[in-house]
Amino acid sequence: MTGTLKRGGMAMIAFLQAQNCSNLPGSWRHPATQQDFMSAAHYQRIARSLEESKFHLAFFDDRLAMPDSLGGDHAETVRHGIRAVKMDLIPILTAMGLATSKLGLGGTYSTTYYEPFHVARVFATLDLMIGGRAAWNVVTSLNDSEAANFGQKEHLEHDLRYDRADEFIECVLGHWATWADDALVVDPVSGLFAHPEKVRRLDFNGKWFRSRGPFTVPRSPQGHPVIMQAGQSGRGTAFAAKWGELIFASMKSAEAGRQIYRTFKDAVSNAGRDPNLVKMAPAVYAVVGETRAIAEEKRAVIEATAAPADSLTLIAEVTNFDFGQVTLDQPLSDTQMAAVGINLGLKERVVKGSGKTNPTPQDFIDFSKRGTLNESVVFCGTPKDVADQMEDFFLTEVCDGFVLSATHRPGAYEDFGRLVVPELQRRGLFHQDYAGTTLRENLGLPRPVVT
Ligand SMILES: Cc1cc2nc3c(=O)[nH]c(=O)nc-3n(C[C@H](O)[C@H](O)[C@H](O)COP(=O)(O)O)c2cc1C
Repeated sequence: MTGTLKRGGMAMIAFLQAQNCSNLPGSWRHPATQQDFMSAAHYQRIARSLEESKFHLAFFDDRLAMPDSLGGDHAETVRHGIRAVKMDLIPILTAMGLATSKLGLGGTYSTTYYEPFHVARVFATLDLMIGGRAAWNVVTSLNDSEAANFGQKEHLEHDLRYDRADEFIECVLGHWATWADDALVVDPVSGLFAHPEKVRRLDFNGKWFRSRGPFTVPRSPQGHPVIMQAGQSGRGTAFAAKWGELIFASMKSAEAGRQIYRTFKDAVSNAGRDPNLVKMAPAVYAVVGETRAIAEEKRAVIEATAAPADSLTLIAEVTNFDFGQVTLDQPLSDTQMAAVGINLGLKERVVKGSGKTNPTPQDFIDFSKRGTLNESVVFCGTPKDVADQMEDFFLTEVCDGFVLSATHRPGAYEDFGRLVVPELQRRGLFHQDYAGTTLRENLGLPRPVVT
């Protein structure tokens, strides 16, 4: 298969982190991990390898604080390297863009802690510098540690964050649509630089945000960056269905995923948009070996990288609750349970899995599996085994593609590209080559036009 990605082909996205480990905190302890994570060369090497394997997109998550909710302290996080480093991703995306020519490059920026004009300008500039391959993952952020880094006492309430985010994104998209596609002339002979009637001022006046304009960055070859989102709650899904073009999901099984997928596609239709133009992809791991025995051996090595502190540190971070207040086997009180945030549906999963209304911290570790390989779906086995599982997900409408997390970097992506990609291509499930040079062309997404 060549050409655009309609329902006929999977979207393949690499889930990257501008940090000392991948999404899996133990990954930096993996014997094959390359430890030069603070160098451009590290990310450029990954970018080139992903492009060789025809990945549509490499995308970075973000968090604006170190995980320090557990015990209100960062010592264990730093000692064990539990996502202790978190660099800004725009310079890294730029470096990766300069090492590639087709790979899409996406980054997460927060609507809670940044300003719309700033985000609009950063991503529009990135999109120009890399020839129309940029994407913005819109998040509302997570916890009080992030709030503290931005001079605030506590993180805003969940639904309110999305109300603000609605306005934020309206403002960003507004700025991106203020230069007509043919506004620029740049004719030194006539002296006409741009048509003044084709550049308008936005004059955005919202409840939370104001931004006047005129915007200072013209349009890119793909119009503007692709919008990515990962809301999963009722409010988050409504937001994603309204604005998102590429949606990330956290799902624990094909069955659960099918339900999430159907609910989401219905929400997109209800928002008056074409569900075929909004792709959904779950975060997954792939552990692949030439034989099943080799794959299982690799999996054992990966699982052995986990440290005892990883899980609860990241549970405290994502729930915005200090689990250090209770011992591991002490049930949380009703008041404490109420204070546990609901991000990623983690609380519900633990209550359901343990069968307890008041689970202990150990229950949270056991039933959320946070910070371990088994937190996400794991496709493990030979190239054929892994392709079979991915094919099943794709053809039975669990998803339109995959967000591949790395068990270690860069080896996990190299294994996948060498062993699984050819098998998916042989089956006609994954494109043989890029359809064009912009991310929109390669994902089969329409280019927004401004006249
Ligand atoms: C694959 C994936 C990546 C995500 N990346 C980030 C991120 O980088 N930063 C962040 O604050 N939240 C991130 N999230 C969390 C989502 O933005 C969202 O808050 C979460 O799925 C819970 O949904 P809700 O906001 O509707 O409650 C991610 C979620 C998923 C599934």
